[in-house]
Amino acid sequence: MIHEPISLTSHILKEDAFPPEATGEFSHIMMNLGIAGKMIARDLRHAGIIDVLGSTGETNIQGEEVQKLDERANEIFIKVFKANEIVKTMVSEEMEQPHVFSDAQRSGKYALYLDPLDGSSNIDVDAPLGSIFSLHRLSEESSGHQEQDLLKAGSEQVGGGYFLYGTSTVFVYTCGKGVHEFTLEPELGEFFLTTRNIQMPSRGKIYSVNEGNYQKWSRGMQQYIDDIKQTDSATHRPYGLRYTGCLVADVHRILLKGGVYLYPGEMNKPEGKLRLMYEAAPLSFVIEQAGGIGSTGVEPINSIQPKMLHQRVPLVIGSRENVEQVQECMRT
Ligand code: AHG
Ligand code: MN
Ligand code: MN
Repeated sequence: MIHEPISLTSHILKEDAFPPEATGEFSHIMMNLGIAGKMIARDLRHAGIIDVLGSTGETNIQGEEVQKLDERANEIFIKVFKANEIVKTMVSEEMEQPHVFSDAQRSGKYALYLDPLDGSSNIDVDAPLGSIFSLHRLSEESSGHQEQDLLKAGSEQVGGGYFLYGTSTVFVYTCGKGVHEFTLEPELGEFFLTTRNIQMPSRGKIYSVNEGNYQKWSRGMQQYIDDIKQTDSATHRPYGLRYTGCLVADVHRILLKGGVYLYPGEMNKPEGKLRLMYEAAPLSFVIEQAGGIGSTGVEPINSIQPKMLHQRVPLVIGSRENVEQVQECMRT
């Protein structure tokens, strides 16, 4: 029995309705994201049975191997928003150029940024996956084609969040008025509100990082990791390490339990691995709305003015006190 059956649709209509002059487009986008998430979750459940596992044989704009399900998830978002004509442009990890919906209403004023499937190396082994979205408002004059119009700082986001396809499918989003979590009831085919206004612990004892890269990090980063592995019961050390290889799953754990996720820059790759506009920025928006911090280790993620759509950035994200401590180590 669902304790308090508030559906995603009714929540959005009730809580996130913009002032009376609002066109309803924002709510409409959020509901359609919910539909895309359900379609992807269904595909993932059947992934081993229908022929969608493995690679397409292509590489994406990031130079990474494209999995069949990466492409399928991208197509789902395109289909859903093509049918609904409310988003002008879609920027995706899987497409070098923005996809402009030519038949979209001329008034359509939003740009949607997506990592359609996050953690794709988990596909073939039934481990968790995610989808990440960020939403920006475009200026009235923008055709949606010009890269310059789409290079928006994270602080300008009007919405951001993710789907986590784990033991349940959850949808977590913020539009700047708190962070809410919804869980998919698969038989009813509807997301229901499971946690309203998530506030994360100000400190946690979990760290999440690909520690195999230790030798490639700066001394400051190495020192931080060495420090949290010391034994000291007063400061709950050593911290516990958890790493799934799916950014969404790892950050979701940090959101609920506290701690820090790190994907630092490396000596020969200071820009790190993760993408600013559709990975780091929306997750930082969520984490900051929950009382945490999203940082490069040096500056806030969401104060960065992007220079490229597919720009990479180092990411240190999580509980306020943990991230502050990493920043301290990076400074010294
Ligand atoms: P994607 O599947 O969208 O390319 O993202 C993979 C990302 C992220 O999900 C994860 O945290 C990170 O890559 C893992 O990288 P490593 O394998 O280098 O640890
Ligand atoms: Mn990703
Ligand atoms: Mn991806």
